Amino acid sequence: MQTPSPQTWSQRFETALHPAIALFNASIGFDIQLIEYDLTGSEAHAKMLVKTEIISPEEGDQIVTGLETIRQEYRRGEFNPGVEAEDVHFAVERRLTEMIGDVGKKLHTARSRNDQVGTDLRLYLRAQIDAIQGQLRQYQQTLLSLAEEHVETLVPGYTHLQRAQPLSLAHHLLAYFDMAQRDWERLHDLQKRVNISPLGCGALAGTTFPIDRQYSAELLGFEKVYGNSLDGVSDRDFAIEFACAASLIMVHLSRLSEEMILWASEEFSFVTLNDSCSTGSSIMPQKKNPDVPELVRGKTGRVFGHLQGLLVMMKGLPLAYNKDLQEDKEAIFDTVNTVRGCVEAMTILLAEGVNFQVLRLRQAVNEDYSNATDVADYLATKGVPFREAYNLVGKVVKTSLAADKLLRELTLEEWQAIHPAFEDDIYAAIAPQQVVSARNSYGGTGFDQVHQAIARANQALGEG
Ligand code: ARG
Repeated sequence: MQTPSPQTWSQRFETALHPAIALFNASIGFDIQLIEYDLTGSEAHAKMLVKTEIISPEEGDQIVTGLETIRQEYRRGEFNPGVEAEDVHFAVERRLTEMIGDVGKKLHTARSRNDQVGTDLRLYLRAQIDAIQGQLRQYQQTLLSLAEEHVETLVPGYTHLQRAQPLSLAHHLLAYFDMAQRDWERLHDLQKRVNISPLGCGALAGTTFPIDRQYSAELLGFEKVYGNSLDGVSDRDFAIEFACAASLIMVHLSRLSEEMILWASEEFSFVTLNDSCSTGSSIMPQKKNPDVPELVRGKTGRVFGHLQGLLVMMKGLPLAYNKDLQEDKEAIFDTVNTVRGCVEAMTILLAEGVNFQVLRLRQAVNEDYSNATDVADYLATKGVPFREAYNLVGKVVKTSLAADKLLRELTLEEWQAIHPAFEDDIYAAIAPQQVVSARNSYGGTGFDQVHQAIARANQALGEG
C-alpha cells in the first residue's frame, strides 16, 4: 500500500505515516462523494484568484480546464485515488499538478482545506436537500391522489389503539400529507443556513491575500458569506439542523410504516400488499411480508443515531477546525442516502404496493361502538347536558354489550327506556357515514372539511 509522502504537508515531516495510521486518517474512502462539489468550489476559487489578480488569467484558465478534465476522468471512472491521497482535496490538487505542472500548485493560494471542505459540504447538502424536497413532493402527491380516491371510504379511527371514532380514509392520509408539508418547509427554511459561504475563511483567521469572498460566493450561488472566519470553518449547525429535519421526516415515515404493517396483518386486514412491494418467507409459504415499511421503520433509528452523533461530536470542540469534524461526512452521507431511499420506497409502496380493502373497512366501522360519542352528542343537542348524556350512553353501551347487540340494533323502546328524548332519527344519527359527515368543524373528518383540505393540499403542491 502506498502511504502519503512526508511532503504532503510540509518539509518539516521526515518520515511517512505508519500505514495503519494513514488508513485511519484518510477520508478519501468516503469524501470522494464530494468530488464534483470540490471541483466546482475550486473553479470558483481559481476565478476569484484571477479577478483579484492573485494569479494571471492564463493560469486561471489552465487550472479551470485541468479541473474540468479531472471531472471528465472521474465521470468516466478513470479517477480513483487511493489512500495515499488522504482526502479528496489532496487527490484533486495532486492530479491537477500532475496534469498542468507547477500552476496547479497555485490553486491552494489563499485557501485551506478547512474552508474548502466546509464549502464542499454545503454545496453537497444544498443539492441533496433540493432533491429530497422534490421527492417529498412526489410522496405528497401520491398521498393526495389516494386521498382524493378515498374521501368516502370509512376507516376506524383510534386513540390508544382502541376504536374511537370512524374517519374518512382521506382524512387519515392527509394527516401524513400535512406532516410531509412541514418536513418540506423545514428543509426549505434551513437551506438559508446551509447556503452561506465559508470559502476564504482560510485555516481559521482569514488570509493575507486581497481575496474577494463575495465574488466566489456569488459564483457558487451562496446567499451570503460567513462574517467570522473562526465560525465559518468550524460551524456544523447546518448539518445538525439537516439531521434533525431528516429525523423528523423519518419519524413521520416510520409512523405510517407502523400503520401499514398493522393494517396488513390478518387481524386488521385493512390493506393487502401487492407482490411488487412485499416478500415471501423462505419457510412459510402462506406469508407475504411488509418488508418495505419494516425497513423504513428500522432505518429510522440510524438517522436518529447520526443526529445524536453529530451533536456529541460538536459539543466539546474548541475553536476552530478540529479533525473530529471529518466525522461529520459519513453521518451526513448516510442520513441523505437513508432518507432518500425511504421517501422513494414509501412513495412506491403507496402508489402501487397497497390496496385498501374498502369492504372490509366498511364492515369494520359498522361493527363497533365507535358511534357512541354521537349518541351523547344527539342527546346533548336535545338539551341533555353533555356530561349527563355521556353517562347515559355509557349505560347504553354496557347493556348493548350484555345483550350482544350493536347500538343500531337497539329498538326504539329500548332507546326510550334510557331517555325519552330518543326518537326515530337516532338510527340515522349513528350510521357511520353520518357520524363522519357530521364532524364538520374546521380540520375535522367531515366530508366537506376533507374536500376543503384536499383543495388546500393541491394549492400547497402548486406553490412549489
Ligand atoms: N478530510 C478533512 C475533513 O474531512 C479535510 C480537512 C482537513 N483539514 C485539516 N486541517 N487537516 O475534515
